[in-house]
Amino acid sequence: MARPTEQWGTRIGVIMAVAGSAVGLGNFLRFPATAAANGGGVFMIPYFCALLLLGIPICWAEWTMGKAGGRLGLHSCSAILGHLGGHRAWRYAGALGLLMPTVVYLYYVVIESWCLGYAWSYLCGTIDLGSDPAEYAKRSAEVFSGFAGDNFDGVMFNGTVHTSVYFWLIVVAVNFWLIYRGISKGIEKFCNLAMPIMAVCAIFVLIRVLTLPAVHEAGETRSVLDGLGFMWNPKPVHEGQSALQALTDPKVWLAAAGQVFFTLSVGFGVIVTYASYIRPKEDIVLTSTTAISTNEFFEVCLGGLITLPAAFIFLGVVGASKGTFGLAFNTLPIVFQNMPGGRLFGFLWFFMLFLAAITSSVSLLQPVIAFLEEALNVTRRTSVTILAVVTLLGNLFVIWFSKNLAALSTLDFWSAEVGILVFGTLEVIVLAWVLGARRGYQVALDGAAMRPPAWMYKYVMRFVTPALLLIVLGMWCYFYMGGHLRSIGQGGVPALAVGLIGLLLAFYLFMAHLADRRWGPNRVAIEVCADVAAEGKK
Ligand code: ALA
Repeated sequence: MARPTEQWGTRIGVIMAVAGSAVGLGNFLRFPATAAANGGGVFMIPYFCALLLLGIPICWAEWTMGKAGGRLGLHSCSAILGHLGGHRAWRYAGALGLLMPTVVYLYYVVIESWCLGYAWSYLCGTIDLGSDPAEYAKRSAEVFSGFAGDNFDGVMFNGTVHTSVYFWLIVVAVNFWLIYRGISKGIEKFCNLAMPIMAVCAIFVLIRVLTLPAVHEAGETRSVLDGLGFMWNPKPVHEGQSALQALTDPKVWLAAAGQVFFTLSVGFGVIVTYASYIRPKEDIVLTSTTAISTNEFFEVCLGGLITLPAAFIFLGVVGASKGTFGLAFNTLPIVFQNMPGGRLFGFLWFFMLFLAAITSSVSLLQPVIAFLEEALNVTRRTSVTILAVVTLLGNLFVIWFSKNLAALSTLDFWSAEVGILVFGTLEVIVLAWVLGARRGYQVALDGAAMRPPAWMYKYVMRFVTPALLLIVLGMWCYFYMGGHLRSIGQGGVPALAVGLIGLLLAFYLFMAHLADRRWGPNRVAIEVCADVAAEGKK
């Protein structure tokens, strides 16, 4: 088996790269929209429960598997799950850890290109919503449609390719260049630079939002405190209910679990791959906990204080109640139009979103690069070329079927809302039940700079997390699966998008089959983990 010798350069570099993978569009766009629609402040109760009982345990499980795999020179989910699971069937299950990041990448990078395009437009001063405030909303929607084509299929607009296509080509080139440069010289170096810049941009925009003067409109006054209240005050999810009744709504708990998975990048196969590149004796517990905390800072303290409060101050409840994309690309341009210094802050905001997105999108490519190198024993150049061809075709599908963002939404549902829950469940089962929580704990302890609580591995990972995941999955199927299956049954773009996911799954299963034949019988990972445990006790 090919044994790539890549490693992260420094511990701070790993933290930046993993936090970079976690901090993304989910923090700044998905989180505020989800929290506001699911009870505001009340949402944080299910959110923190999901973080403690699902997010952190699965994150640690992924880190542990990655570390154990890395000791064997393995870096892909297929190889690592196959070895730790002690059965070749897990190599095929590991194909889900290639499918999920690929499918998410297919649409994520398109949104990333919109962010870069908007940042560029603000820099050049070409986003102009006119001079009539009554027309801002209409004009903002027109600007977005002209740019991203969300009201028509195809790539032509007014006789020319719509502008976002050019930005898409740029972001794809940057993503693949970083991946080609490798773990330490590409991803790590870039994240070391991008994360502080992102934090500085976000803090500038935050200061601007928190110092905005109150807006008086139609006898109503809306100040910063009102904006923060709109985001964070407990509020009912349904009319006629009390705020606390949101806690009895299973959909609020599902939204919280989904947000935690997405924001931490768990169930994507990304953390397993990233963790496999740490040095053999390196700590994973403090490192992962620091990355999680960094992500939560960006999500709750920055994402939760900027977008919706700003939208509420200028546009009131209606303007602040648009979904994720409406908020980002329709509402916020109106906010920047109204805001003193709006052009500068518009640039800082969208550039920050672009950085947040690209540090996540490179992490979505690495699991497949690692797999192609291990499975086919090909060079970096070949693995990058194969993945570039596959993803370029997939991106074109998303860009072509952009009317009402139909392709994007379907891919998002099946990957980022359902698929990552399924793969997260498989991962925690492999670690806690197949390999064994006790062995996993020994791997985590090896070189640990902070001792993880044993009960997290012994009880939470073994019983609580899998049981909760099965409940969450069951509820997903009960509430949402029927509607999505019906829309697939009606044909059209949803059916094509699911067909594309099926094709990719078949491709990765075939690759896993080739890998299985090349790798031959499994080495029994349990022995390796026993070695780790023995070394840890020395
Ligand atoms: N974790 C990444 C995000 O939040 C995927 O956008």
